[in-house]
Amino acid sequence: MNLTGDTFLITGGGSGIGRGLAKALHKLGNQVVIAGRRKSALDEITAANPGMKSVQLDIENAAAIRSFAAQVTAEFPFLNVLINNAGIMRAEKLLSQQPDLADAEAIVTTNLLGPIRLTAALLPHLEKQPHAAIMNVSSGLAFMPLALTPTYCATKAAIHSYTQSLRYQLRERTLRFWNLCLRMWPQI
Ligand SMILES: NC(=O)c1ccc[n+]([C@@H]2O[C@H](COP(=O)([O-])OP(=O)(O)OC[C@H]3O[C@@H](n4cnc5c(N)ncnc54)[C@H](OP(=O)(O)O)[C@@H]3O)[C@@H](O)[C@H]2O)c1
Repeated sequence: MNLTGDTFLITGGGSGIGRGLAKALHKLGNQVVIAGRRKSALDEITAANPGMKSVQLDIENAAAIRSFAAQVTAEFPFLNVLINNAGIMRAEKLLSQQPDLADAEAIVTTNLLGPIRLTAALLPHLEKQPHAAIMNVSSGLAFMPLALTPTYCATKAAIHSYTQSLRYQLRERTLRFWNLCLRMWPQI
């Protein structure tokens, strides 16, 4: 990754931290592709940043991830950096949860399984690209959990661990793996 002249895919790039990263990387002269569920949010940022592109994705949907990966690699053959940024945080009261644990399941599917699935779908492509990298957005809450959001914190600890294993297992390859361990934005 050179931070200029690269092709970035940023999940959750339509708002918040993903949008901030997308705008900054676009300004530095990279091809930036943002993904998320809300077309209106994606359209707003691509309209304000000519040349930036978007593709809709629901990262909770395993089949959609596979077709999404095929689409982005066909449309953007020089894609070399994936930023797994999309994520959700929900408060959970452990003694009064829904019987089907719907919130916990959505958090795990979005924050952990989604990045694992997207990484798996894109690895064969990224492996062949120069200066390729995968960045997974973790959190300080991976290491010091906020008791109000137990599943969220667990997913951030898990994605941190997963990134370390990717880095070790693929250490002979040129692909690089990073954890972006963020803390309380935009509150500070
Ligand atoms: N804010 C903080 O203080 C903080 C601290 C540490 C770590 N983080 C992490 O940083 C990342 C971004 O957080 P943020 O604060 O910028 O949150 P945000 O403003 O709520 O943005 C989250 C993004 O994820 C996307 N997303 C959510 N569910 C999705 C799904 N099923 N499929 C595809 N995209 C989905 C959303 O787009 P759509 O709704 O359009 O799908 C949205 O653009 C998250 O991983 C979060 O855990 C945040």
